[in-house]
Amino acid sequence: MRRIEFHNREKELKEIRDILDTEPSLITFVYGPVNSGKTALITHLIEQLPENYVVFYVNLRGKFISSYDDFVRALFKLDREKKEYKEILKTISEVSLKSLKFTGIPITEGVLDLFFREKTYDDVFEFLEDYFTEIAENKVPVLIVDELQKIGDVRINTHLIYELFNLFIRLTKELHLCHVFAVTSDSLFIKRVYSEAMLSERCKYLLADDFDYETTIAFLDHYGFDMHEREIAWHYVGGKPVSLVRLINEKRSEKNIEEVAGSMLKLRTGEIGQRTKVLKIVNKKILFEKDEMELKYDDVTKILDKFSDEESYTYDVITPEITYLVKENILFVDPVNCIIKPQSRLNLLAIREILENA
Ligand SMILES: Nc1ncnc2c1ncn2[C@@H]1O[C@H](COP(=O)(O)OP(=O)(O)OP(=O)(O)O)[C@@H](O)[C@H]1O
Ligand SMILES: [Mg+2]
Repeated sequence: MRRIEFHNREKELKEIRDILDTEPSLITFVYGPVNSGKTALITHLIEQLPENYVVFYVNLRGKFISSYDDFVRALFKLDREKKEYKEILKTISEVSLKSLKFTGIPITEGVLDLFFREKTYDDVFEFLEDYFTEIAENKVPVLIVDELQKIGDVRINTHLIYELFNLFIRLTKELHLCHVFAVTSDSLFIKRVYSEAMLSERCKYLLADDFDYETTIAFLDHYGFDMHEREIAWHYVGGKPVSLVRLINEKRSEKNIEEVAGSMLKLRTGEIGQRTKVLKIVNKKILFEKDEMELKYDDVTKILDKFSDEESYTYDVITPEITYLVKENILFVDPVNCIIKPQSRLNLLAIREILENA
């Protein structure tokens, strides 16, 4: 099996390394459109870290969290070998020749049992504070939570996300103990975070967008794309890493790039057409600012219309129609730069086809 190597991302990696080089003081939110390579960026970074860092990577994708127990299970990983959690901390803190990476925070059965018995966040968060304090004596702990939006709306006694934000603020701004990265592709979630008073001045935002033109061309060049194929790929899928990887693999199977890209566009046009035209048939409602709002086909089309000759636009206010299009993964909102754009070049072209044939 031929692998595709991690490509570039120098700018984003430098920005993250600069954060890691200074004392933890802010929470970093890594955001960007769907499939832009956020997880790949973080995974690559973890592999490259020097030995004084200890990374705890928690990915909430695929995790169903609706109770306190689910949350504890998602956060921690049982270490069956160790009897005392101090033993775990000792192993982590001891000098090792490489950086340590954990998927989930390693913990003993005894502590897990205690969490399940007591069922209070205070216990969990206090425990984590002690855990990171101890590690921070010898190493630099880094906590990464991928797909954080998965718990955006979870209410278990209280609003879980706010409890977690408090822990993050405690670990960074107050105690300077641990670097905290939260990763998400949900732009409505990041918009909420951005306007959240409790987080103001306490976090930093890092956009991991699709590749730019030069990066895309260099990526394709590396896999033997000729000039025509490179331009075709850029025209259809822009710098969306996942789509570029697909085209590279199709080329390896000696497929015609233009035909593959054309069929990808046809498929996406059909999907977006379905998501919009369905509004002519059924009365769809969307929850917006706690109110149920009816969606009208004409109003949704008016939003899409903005992309008939622009690739992005500066927004003034997020409307129910924009919310619908973002939820359907057609548009992407960047609240830091106040910009709305399609999730990818393929989406932009599909929107234009739909507008032309409307
Ligand atoms: N820098 C890169 N170099 C090579 N391939 C990449 C790179 N970034 C992403 N990819 C490819 O694109 C795919 C999608 O990337 P990834 O899963 O990291 O995106 P994501 O932004 O985390 O997606 P999601 O929005 O679903 O969370 C990866 O499986 C990988 O094949
Ligand atoms: Mg991801």
